[in-house]
Amino acid sequence: MTGNRPAVRPARPFFSSGPCAKRPGWNLEALNAACLGRSHRSKPGKAKLKDAIDRTRAVLRVPADYRIGIVAGSDTGAVEMALWSLLGPRPVDVLAWESFGEDWVTDIAKQLKLKDTRILKAPYGELPDLTQTDPARDIVFLWNGTTSGVRVPNGDWIADSREGLTICDATSAAFAMDLAWPKLDVVTFSWQKVLGGEGAHGMLVLSPRAVARLESYNPPWPMPKTFRMTKDGKLVEGIFEGETINTPSMLALEDYLDTLKWAEGIGGLPALIARADRNLSVLANWVQRTDWVDFLARDPASRSNTSVCLKIVDPWFTALAKDAQAAAASKIASLLEKEGVALDIGGYRAAPPGLRIWCGATVDSSDLETLTPWLDWAFAQVKNG
Ligand SMILES: Cc1ncc(COP(=O)(O)O)c(C=O)c1O
Repeated sequence: MTGNRPAVRPARPFFSSGPCAKRPGWNLEALNAACLGRSHRSKPGKAKLKDAIDRTRAVLRVPADYRIGIVAGSDTGAVEMALWSLLGPRPVDVLAWESFGEDWVTDIAKQLKLKDTRILKAPYGELPDLTQTDPARDIVFLWNGTTSGVRVPNGDWIADSREGLTICDATSAAFAMDLAWPKLDVVTFSWQKVLGGEGAHGMLVLSPRAVARLESYNPPWPMPKTFRMTKDGKLVEGIFEGETINTPSMLALEDYLDTLKWAEGIGGLPALIARADRNLSVLANWVQRTDWVDFLARDPASRSNTSVCLKIVDPWFTALAKDAQAAAASKIASLLEKEGVALDIGGYRAAPPGLRIWCGATVDSSDLETLTPWLDWAFAQVKNG
């Protein structure tokens, strides 16, 4: 730890966990070709929506028989569309190890009021016992817990021969982690995370088994128009060809297309994953040589390479009352924000007090290298009053 003020600032101090940093080199000119002032159902408008679906499929290597739709309400909209449309005919296992998992527990247990629901929980920093999930039940889980920095290590715990559906909120995982497609029946994500797009729409990916459920099951509760994917018991295929249920933002769409093209240009999914891994390793090296900080994620195998959550383990800090810890951690974050060194790195409000530093593909590892001495500096400033 050093009291010396570092000389160099990160070139791009954007470490927010959503909306995340724009891609390197991004500027507003990237949006020049947007189809503005036109109907999204016009030929060029629809072609752009379809292009976004096709490029998403290519970059993420989504199987050819899975549907991909652009839906309303960002990732939350996509997840809730799936929960409301698919759940009910089978008992449900829902996994929660941080705040967004808890949100889906609330939806399933308190809003949909599904009686036969098991909630498999773990505290911040840990994963529930994945082997406790039952392939006869529907399983709802996050690939990456954005507020604790804990991810599932892989999909090996999901049975190939499952009877239930797996519904996976992958919003802070898609484009940074290998998603085990054959194990996943529903995958959701938004545009503003790993690719640094704009907050707007959700992506809903459905396996053939998920489509079969949609076509064979009619939920007993009312279904808002923005959730309705079937008509007369048949899937509305147009939704998965770019005919969105309601009006999308063509500006946000252009931005998503721009970032997909950037992803293709740097080498696609392996390059995106490598960038996030490299970013995580910069922080891991620093954590290893730094005695005041540690990962919130206990097991390195489930440590996120996007939403990296850090806890402060210095005895001065751990001796503080919880409120004082939260105040100290937020002072570190605001000091760095004031210095223009790191924006939005306070831990999530419901998580244990600490810092959260986004390491997704749009962040440059050189900026994380430059950030770490500043973290030491800010910690020393706050500790020494
Ligand atoms: C795991 C997870 N689920 C859901 C959400 C909500 O996403 P959105 O605001 O895109 O709906 C977030 C946002 O950070 C998230 O990290």
